[in-house]
Amino acid sequence: MSRAPKPDPIESEVAEKPAATEPFGLLYGRSEAMTQLCNQLAKVAQTFASVLIIGESGTGKELVAKTIHDRSQRAKQPFIPVNCGAIPANLIEAELFGHEKGSFTGAVSQHVGYFEHASGGTIFLDEITEMAPEMQVKLLRVLETGCFHRVGGIEQISVDVRVIAATNRDPRTAVEEGAFREDLLYRLAVFPVRAPPLRERQGDIELLAQHFLDHFNAAEKANKVFSKRSIETLKAYAWPGNVRELKNTVHRAFILADKVVEVPNPSIASRVKKPLLRDGTLNVWIGTPLADAQREIILATLNHFEGDKRKTATTLGVSLKTLYNRLDAYQNNLPLNDPL
Ligand SMILES: Nc1ncnc2c1ncn2[C@@H]1O[C@H](COP(=O)(O)OP(=O)(O)OP(=O)(O)O)[C@@H](O)[C@H]1O
Ligand SMILES: [Mg+2]
Repeated sequence: MSRAPKPDPIESEVAEKPAATEPFGLLYGRSEAMTQLCNQLAKVAQTFASVLIIGESGTGKELVAKTIHDRSQRAKQPFIPVNCGAIPANLIEAELFGHEKGSFTGAVSQHVGYFEHASGGTIFLDEITEMAPEMQVKLLRVLETGCFHRVGGIEQISVDVRVIAATNRDPRTAVEEGAFREDLLYRLAVFPVRAPPLRERQGDIELLAQHFLDHFNAAEKANKVFSKRSIETLKAYAWPGNVRELKNTVHRAFILADKVVEVPNPSIASRVKKPLLRDGTLNVWIGTPLADAQREIILATLNHFEGDKRKTATTLGVSLKTLYNRLDAYQNNLPLNDPL
């Protein structure tokens, strides 16, 4: 007696791949909010106007800045990103404008600053509201005159540099709190643009997730696919960490998957305080439930070995089968029955 062929359980659970769409510059997304943003960028890219990009962390501000540069007539000239918040206050002037030999202790040779490096191109001043107020005054003067001199130097240097700045704070509030000079805000925000948070463009979630999956597939020469449930989970979440959080979530699920990528519910995963992973170490908070600590150690080790489950299991001293069971439980939010 012949039996009817069983439907392939995997096939029926696999999500249909969304139609590929062209990015605008480096930016993926077709939602109303992204379309509006891209229309603005297309116009301002052609000009010399300063642009201030305002948006929450992870919304793609740096990609917006690079896209403006790439779509401008300066595209072949340098694009120099500078994280103003990461440079100590006593060094930032020399970093931006350079210094002459012997101008201060440690200035053993002449140093060319970011503005000179960006000559003919674009400088991207990220986290601009973190810059010390006295430096903001100097920056404003340079933007107004187009001239500066290196620290310890007298030669006036003039450069042709387009300025794009970004902040993840509300600039008006930063002005009210005294962190951001109002005159600099007006000078920079000739053309303000807002990078919308991901929760305001839910229509982009699937497309972005697929873009990142394609990227990881290409990088690892893999051919993994999303399950239908993953797409539903991704769409239902609010993404407080925006596109960066989405990208990291897809990456983690990609590493764990053999063929079908299952994304665990991020709202459950984020209830655990995230330990910091630096230089191969993992900080686990005192009082973390053992099950959560085990989970973090397992996932961090798997990440460390770039998804190699055999090496991970051997290193952690568990059988490959136990590791598979654990990963399966984590992916599907199942209770943990087997103690390690
Ligand atoms: N529209 C997009 N298309 C493709 N990738 C994106 C998009 N937006 C953001 N990304 C990716 O998300 C990550 C975060 O983007 P980016 O670093 O530009 O954010 P940010 O707003 O500068 O964040 P922060 O304020 O924390 O510096 C990057 O890996 C970037 O490539
Ligand atoms: Mg950034």
